[in-house]
Amino acid sequence: MSILPVAHTLTVLSQKGGTGKTTAVRTLADVYRRVGLDVLCADLDPQGNLSDYFDVPPEASPTMGDVLAGQANAADAVHPEGGMSRQGRPPEGGILPANLGLAEAELILAGKMGRELTLKRALREVRRDYDLILVDCPPSLGLLTVNALVAADHAVISSEAEYFSLQGVEQALEVVELARESLNPDLDWLGVVLNIADMRLIHAREAHRQLRERFGERVFDSVVRRSVRYAESAERGVSILDYAPELGADYLALADELLARLGGFDEQRSRLADLRAELAAA
Ligand SMILES: Nc1ncnc2c1ncn2[C@@H]1O[C@H](COP(=O)(O)OP(=O)(O)OP(=O)(O)O)[C@@H](O)[C@H]1O
Ligand SMILES: [Mg+2]
Repeated sequence: MSILPVAHTLTVLSQKGGTGKTTAVRTLADVYRRVGLDVLCADLDPQGNLSDYFDVPPEASPTMGDVLAGQANAADAVHPEGGMSRQGRPPEGGILPANLGLAEAELILAGKMGRELTLKRALREVRRDYDLILVDCPPSLGLLTVNALVAADHAVISSEAEYFSLQGVEQALEVVELARESLNPDLDWLGVVLNIADMRLIHAREAHRQLRERFGERVFDSVVRRSVRYAESAERGVSILDYAPELGADYLALADELLARLGGFDEQRSRLADLRAELAAA
């Protein structure tokens, strides 16, 4: 049961592909569920990676594409998460899945009035059923990402620790500003997380320094370290929290920083502290 009147909607975006957005959404959802929050994951990427992570069958219907095309209600498009139940935990929350049909829906959407508001309107009816809605964006700053930003209360930018990180974050931030100025004045940019970072490399440390210099406190203290174990855990359908708890610690720290910035989650943060201690001892 939801503890808040309406869900906080949080969108994870980046200017380019492969910055760890989907892994972040998946892992944060896992952390938040473990501390008792009801979380809906919304896949807004026609690649459907998030839906795959959660073992949504390919024939699942309706999907995000149907919702955005106006052919289904969001509530009907929420599916249980196979991946989680397979690990012996009952599925909590759910996923609004995507597949290639979403690319087609995006084209249809492009020609419609109010095209940027479609996701926001669609999620309105399910917002009361969850504490958090986490939206995973595609690897571009097009109409789908704009829909995600217009539907969101909060935006988090995921950035790889590379030479051009700063530029990518600036571009993503421009789209956040655009959404805020035109359609969603309450949109709050929570910050930028340095993701898939090998801090032993000079260029990764340099990327972090540049981001800090430019965005100060908006750069999360928690850095998600690079490890091949993420790919392995994804392949096995096991959360990084269970597969490699010492790495999962990065996401526990990030999840806590996010809750601190959202405010009002004291009880969950205290459970999160217990979970961190538990996993550290594992
Ligand atoms: N911390 C990490 N260390 C190493 N590899 C990672 C890490 N996080 C994610 N990966 C791997 O990097 C790849 C890209 O991650 P992910 O799919 O989460 O990125 P994305 O930003 O969602 O990509 P896209 O833009 O294509 O949707 C995946 O193979 C994933 O398993
Ligand atoms: Mg992705």
